[in-house]
Amino acid sequence: MSQERWTEVDDYLADQLIAPDPVLDAVLRASADAELPVIQVSALQGKLLWLLARAQGASRILEIGTLGGYSTIWLARALPSDGRLVSLELDPAHAELARANLTVAGLADRVEVRIGPALESLSELRAHGGERFDFVFIDADKAAIPSYVELAVDLSRPGTLIVVDNVVRAGEVLDAASPNADVQGIRAFYAMMATRNDLEATTIQTVGTKGHDGLALVLVTGDTE
Ligand code: SAH
Ligand code: DHB
Ligand code: MG
Repeated sequence: MSQERWTEVDDYLADQLIAPDPVLDAVLRASADAELPVIQVSALQGKLLWLLARAQGASRILEIGTLGGYSTIWLARALPSDGRLVSLELDPAHAELARANLTVAGLADRVEVRIGPALESLSELRAHGGERFDFVFIDADKAAIPSYVELAVDLSRPGTLIVVDNVVRAGEVLDAASPNADVQGIRAFYAMMATRNDLEATTIQTVGTKGHDGLALVLVTGDTE
């Protein structure tokens, strides 16, 4: 199987399973026009996020890594009308376009895009206490995944589902000696999972328009042993 074939199958599946979506088409066009990197989740992965958040009955969603707001829109569409999504983004230009895209999607009232290094924004959210998220999507810089998971768990409740993107990286995850900080971040995430009795995780490897990668699903069980 080749990349070309994976893409053809993704296109076929998206065609079968996802209704035409002029809003998301416009969002992707706006992101391309602004020359954002084309690294958003695929349509099928976006629908998976929507489906999981919906199945979870999530009314509070946290996202780390907004880019142009493509995954944000999929997730925010799973919210009830009084639901809330907070998305954390380092790059002000990305955040600005995401806000515009969320407005086009009619979701601006439910979504807050917070600008700054996510580690800082997460610490602030934690310091201000209170808000417990039902669903978390981690998709920013990969080296910091272990820290993001740890902080996300502090902002979670038993039953919260945390999804982490890009946890296979075409198999690079196997390379223990990798000089790549992203790969080491992913490996540290798996090492951390082995030590946490309060979390249960699995990873599904994925192929498709985005090549060979994987999504980790982490359930906050809250169990102490
Ligand atoms: N979730 C998006 C894609 C996110 S791409 C989607 O699927 O549509 C990763 C994003 O994380 C980029 O916009 C990048 O600017 C942002 N990012 C990188 N490092 C970050 C950091 N330290 N804090 C917050 N955001 C960061
Ligand atoms: C990259 C980042 C992502 O979040 C992704 O899904 C694919 C690629 C990247 O930085 O290359
Ligand atoms: Mg990603």
